[in-house]
Amino acid sequence: MSGSKLRRYHAPVWDEPLIMEMTAPGRRGNVLPDPIEELDPSAALPAAVLRAAAPELPEVAEPDVLRHYLHLSQETMGMVGISLFGTCTMKYNPRVNEQLTARDGVAEIHPDQDDSSIQGLLEIVHRFDLMLRGLSGMDRFVFQPGGGAAAAYTHATVTRAYFADRGELGTRRDIITTSQAHPCNPATAAAAGFNVITLPLEDDGYPSVEALRSVLSERTAALMINNPDDMGIYNPHIKEWVDAVHEVGGLCFYDHANFNGVMGRLRAAELGFDACMFMLHKTFGVPKGGGGPAVGAYGCTDALAPYLPGPLVESTPDGFVRRENPGGVGRVREYLGNVNQVVKAYSWLLAMGGDGIKEAADLSVLANNYMERRLLALPGVTKSLARLTKHRLEMTRFSLEEYTAETGISAVNVQNRMTDFGIDAFWLSHEPWIVPEPFTPEAGETWSLEDIDYWIDVLAHVLEEGRTDPELVRTAPHQQVVGQLDGSTLDDPERWATTWRAYRRKNGLA
Ligand SMILES: Cc1ncc(COP(=O)(O)O)c(C=O)c1O
Repeated sequence: MSGSKLRRYHAPVWDEPLIMEMTAPGRRGNVLPDPIEELDPSAALPAAVLRAAAPELPEVAEPDVLRHYLHLSQETMGMVGISLFGTCTMKYNPRVNEQLTARDGVAEIHPDQDDSSIQGLLEIVHRFDLMLRGLSGMDRFVFQPGGGAAAAYTHATVTRAYFADRGELGTRRDIITTSQAHPCNPATAAAAGFNVITLPLEDDGYPSVEALRSVLSERTAALMINNPDDMGIYNPHIKEWVDAVHEVGGLCFYDHANFNGVMGRLRAAELGFDACMFMLHKTFGVPKGGGGPAVGAYGCTDALAPYLPGPLVESTPDGFVRRENPGGVGRVREYLGNVNQVVKAYSWLLAMGGDGIKEAADLSVLANNYMERRLLALPGVTKSLARLTKHRLEMTRFSLEEYTAETGISAVNVQNRMTDFGIDAFWLSHEPWIVPEPFTPEAGETWSLEDIDYWIDVLAHVLEEGRTDPELVRTAPHQQVVGQLDGSTLDDPERWATTWRAYRRKNGLA
């Protein structure tokens, strides 16, 4: 133990009704009128789009509204605990970036505005594209994909368009990946109609070059791979892999989700890749909350640029313009995507600077190896493929297999109990689990030594609790807004409801 004093924590728990249930006819709050609201909508809009009846909005007094949303915010854990959430590089999201995007010039613009009226925003998109080109060596980026998986899908569709253009799509049917790739790679390849070949790991922790060569042929369309993988293992033969795929005419896509430990230290194009993706909502300090609004920045070489989804932002002598890409794959999301996240990532990268991100990469590897040393000293904790002694990069996947065998307490139980100390749940592993009872913390460069020590001290404390009072850990969390979740409703369309109308119908309310 580093001797942290574990802090007392209890989440506020409110028996909070839905806002729709709080309605009482005639109750009101006051907001100053907006000049736009003074326009007569029936004069400004075609009759076909006007409502026949007023919408059923809740009628609630101002203090009740304030108290309601305060309660909900108190019940939201968000990124306020120490969040060592591996394979996603959870980072602190600087407030200054939130302030920037809350300004009217970003928050209040409409995507259908004329280019001449959003020159500043288009310039940021263009400059950020140039910065990512610098980091990757690629020739062009788009920010339309709404996350890492969407960028992988963009690659699968770009691959399809590229080979269709060459009349080879009938033969180029295979996309190759490994059992340690994120599931979005095989899933998006399959969704785009390709056959997926998944290579198993071998003695060194990754498939051999020979294994790769044995599945390459004139049928190969692409390789989709991350490196380092989600166990933190870097495949040093990656250049040979890329060359081998190119020899048979295939394309190579670098899933850069785990970019944090190698930022500014390697460039996808120099390894020979044809395309790559960066996650602005992870590596670039942008919020990742609950699956949403994210950006998977997709970059490629000039050879693939004709197939990119439009619109593309360009700098011309007359200013910045959006132009369609007629030979491209079409939209993968609306307009320029979650463009305010691009503004945050641009601000983050400007603040960090070239040297800053190299230093952040080094710090994240250092922090991980510090953690690894302390975690492996805890009885019952081992690391994935423990026989491999080389340093892992920015994260390590650990295992509680021995601890579970000793106590019957699972990694999920430990994860739940740790949240009782006010820290965010750790990440276990993508499915399917290759490592038994996995957990994958990632410190990155964001968290202080005190935070990292505290996190490890909480884990050590919970592991001890599991030995002395297993029921306490098995039934956790006890100090949280909710206890153990019943996930069965998520799979049952008869029970879940995403609108008030559906909620009323499914619960037999009037
Ligand atoms: C290696 C890797 N690739 C892709 C993804 C998918 O990213 P997103 O969650 O933004 O869709 C993840 C997410 O964890 C990942 O770890």
